[in-house]
Amino acid sequence: MRNTLISFISIASLAGAVLFGLTPTVQATDHQGTGLSEVVDAKGNIRLPDDFRLTMTHLGSWYVPGGDASGFHDVYADTESVRAFRRDGKFPEGAVLVKELRGAESGNFTTGDNVSYSKAGVKQWFVMVKDSQNRFAGNPAWGDGWGWALFKPGDTNTNVGGNYKESCLGCHQPAKDTDWIYLQAYPSLMAR
Ligand code: HEC
Repeated sequence: MRNTLISFISIASLAGAVLFGLTPTVQATDHQGTGLSEVVDAKGNIRLPDDFRLTMTHLGSWYVPGGDASGFHDVYADTESVRAFRRDGKFPEGAVLVKELRGAESGNFTTGDNVSYSKAGVKQWFVMVKDSQNRFAGNPAWGDGWGWALFKPGDTNTNVGGNYKESCLGCHQPAKDTDWIYLQAYPSLMAR
């Protein structure tokens, strides 16, 4: 009886934590009636997920040594979609991906000389949201199976990416066969 009661309580509190989100997590599931993610409104406007470094899974990083995009490119996805990718080998409907660009500094540390690192200095964020049903036909941020967005520091609610065909697609062409995603740098998509 006592054991039953204890397990009932722990199941109830677990359900509470999941339902009421003790730690808010970015969900691939719908909260705004779009049938997609909570970061997409009914018109297909995309916003940057809140505090994604805490609430999403770090997929992996790129390091770009020079040019406008130089520095670290850290990529995140909502955890539910990472689990789905490990199972199915593809991102599910509503999957949210964030890429953060930060300029790098370097210095000498006990691990070696010229060690690159970064904490501040965000340049911009790229966001993609999976949509295989072409829900927002006519919205220039959507198509080819994804919503595509770009945010600059200071306004994480306004997508300044414009038409994805001009601002994103050309550069993602080499990754077309993997649903436009560069998968080379994401160990989190594999179980160890
Ligand atoms: C200059 C070329 C270029 C442009 C323009 C570009 N991307 Fe990318 N993007 C890349 C490359 C290359 C990677 C992976 C390697 C890296 O980050 O250096 C990437 C990675 C990403 C990622 C991480 C997931 C992945 O594909 O691996 C997201 C999200 C992303 N881009 C979104 C966008 C969006 C949205 C736009 C348009 C607003 C855009 N990108 C424009 C080249 C580009």
